[in-house]
Amino acid sequence: MKEQLKKWIAVLFLVIPTSFMTACTNQFLVEDMVQEEESEQNPEEGLIVVGVSQVGSESIWRTAHTASIQETLTTENGYYLIFDNARQKQENQIKAIRNFISQDVDYIVLSPITETGWDTVLSEAKDAGIPVILMDRMVDIEDDSLYTAWIGSDFEEEGKNAGYWLEEYLEKKEMTEEDINIVVLQGTEGSTSVIGRTRGFESVAKKNQNWHILEQVDADFTTAKGYEVMQYFLEEYEDIDVVVSQNDDMTFGALEAMEEAGISTGKDGDVIMISFDAVKAALEKVKDGEINVDIECNPLQGQYIDRIIRDMEKGKLEEKMFYTVERVFTPENVGLVIDDRTY
Ligand code: AHR
Repeated sequence: MKEQLKKWIAVLFLVIPTSFMTACTNQFLVEDMVQEEESEQNPEEGLIVVGVSQVGSESIWRTAHTASIQETLTTENGYYLIFDNARQKQENQIKAIRNFISQDVDYIVLSPITETGWDTVLSEAKDAGIPVILMDRMVDIEDDSLYTAWIGSDFEEEGKNAGYWLEEYLEKKEMTEEDINIVVLQGTEGSTSVIGRTRGFESVAKKNQNWHILEQVDADFTTAKGYEVMQYFLEEYEDIDVVVSQNDDMTFGALEAMEEAGISTGKDGDVIMISFDAVKAALEKVKDGEINVDIECNPLQGQYIDRIIRDMEKGKLEEKMFYTVERVFTPENVGLVIDDRTY
């Protein structure tokens, strides 16, 4: 009997703690699972879900553009943001949009790398009932109802402003009768910014018989390519009077190549330097006289996207196209903005 009692006690000691532990563990597991399921199922509960497809991170401008979107479409502001960086590839953007569609987001926001090639994927978004908002660049599509709104710059106006500034400058310097040789560093081929800036500048150049655009070469909006292409221009052409660089990053590369070749630029230099974007580091060079003029391109588009979405939520979006406000900076007026520039 004693022996049997001992056995029962031993069994109880073995069974009770393990079953107690199992019960506890099971309870924790169930609680964890419920919590996990809740957060997995509804991270976006009550929030507006927005899928954003960004071109890449090729320039200072682009970094500021991304920051503006990410700082605006926050949880505190009522958004659940799914952000995708396409690393300069249209195929990545198309893949991202298809992912957004399969996740059934509320809105798709797209900065299209080039203008063409969007009809199919934007039709898929429309069929899924997801509104598409375009930012920065435009698409060239058959059916304009494939996007609901667009926010960006008037790139053609930017190009014209570069031309108008050069006309005025040459007049002041009494150079209107001289032959003016111009080279152009262009950004990503097929992008709206390149198409618009080129068209705008060319339209002014055509009216000036003494302006000669020697060559326009794609330098992909990057400093490294700007440097390379400028080196090529310097090897190819002996007498360059003006460099038009379609963004500040390429300008930095071009300036480096010219400095290495012993060529000065800007206010009192050998070559007139025209740039686009007006990021802080370039505005410093405008102030120092190294860049003659910088045509602003405004990357702070997050607030516009927010306003568009809020209006759409209320069903009262009245316009489709929204243009950002932009200026032209020279050494004379750059002091007005330089300290407040955040990018
Ligand atoms: O589309 C806007 C252009 O894209 C900016 O000028 C350039 O810096 C950017 O990468």
